[in-house]
Amino acid sequence: MRVVLIGPPGSGKGTQGTRLRDRLSLEYIATGNILRDAVARKSAAGLEAKPYLDRGQLVPDELVNRLVAELFSDPTRLTHFVMDGYPRTLAQAQAFDELLESHGLPLTAAIQFAIADEEVVRRLDGRRMCGNAECSAVYHMKNNPPAVPGVCDRCGSPLSQRLDDKENDAIWSRLRSYHQVTEELLDYYQKRGVLHRISAQQDIDLIHQQLVDITQESA
Ligand code: AP5
Repeated sequence: MRVVLIGPPGSGKGTQGTRLRDRLSLEYIATGNILRDAVARKSAAGLEAKPYLDRGQLVPDELVNRLVAELFSDPTRLTHFVMDGYPRTLAQAQAFDELLESHGLPLTAAIQFAIADEEVVRRLDGRRMCGNAECSAVYHMKNNPPAVPGVCDRCGSPLSQRLDDKENDAIWSRLRSYHQVTEELLDYYQKRGVLHRISAQQDIDLIHQQLVDITQESA
């Protein structure tokens, strides 16, 4: 199963992507997490990406495509996965298709998360993330709180607030990028016959079950 999640910031891609990983034993790949980790380690990729992340702008295609291609360089590693936040531009989608084709791994489904901008802003304000890169579980102070405040239920690591969730300007910049650039991917995947749409403004468990059904029926 090879699934791509497409949606604006705060639409629940991380929440649902990590649940799909746990339920269907998929690899979970989130380019936002990979980039934030590179920034924290101050690697060359991280230094290049940092100004874009801070402003809520898309990192150049060439850099993200390279980081994703590196993940697939060991052919035994990535065969069943859920992708969160990639591809995000037409150029990334085309590069990803070529990459998957070269490994003989056709895409199972691309799933669009539909949500109103106002709900996105409400959600990002209350979001808290597990700081353990192996876990990356996502919480919300009201909608989806951890059992113990500030501590991840899944792995016990401390939770924190993302820098680009603290700045209202960065949130709106991410939303604009989504509407101006990423939405054109919907047409691309529609034409390829792999696009599915779900409302991201439903109960978290309900959305999870819809995603499991779509993924299993498309496989
Ligand atoms: P990235 O990390 O991908 O962030 P994003 O797209 O802005 O998406 P988010 O992680 O903010 O939201 P989400 O949809 O995962 O929502 P979540 O599940 O957390 O990218 C960050 C940056 O990296 C970009 O700005 C860019 O600079 C760079 N980047 C990354 N990929 C790139 C690429 N391919 N190309 C170029 N640049 C790239 O949920 C949000 C909150 O809502 C949580 O608190 C959650 O608990 C709550 N929630 C979730 N579902 C529900 C629900 N159903 N009901 C109520 N609350 C809910």
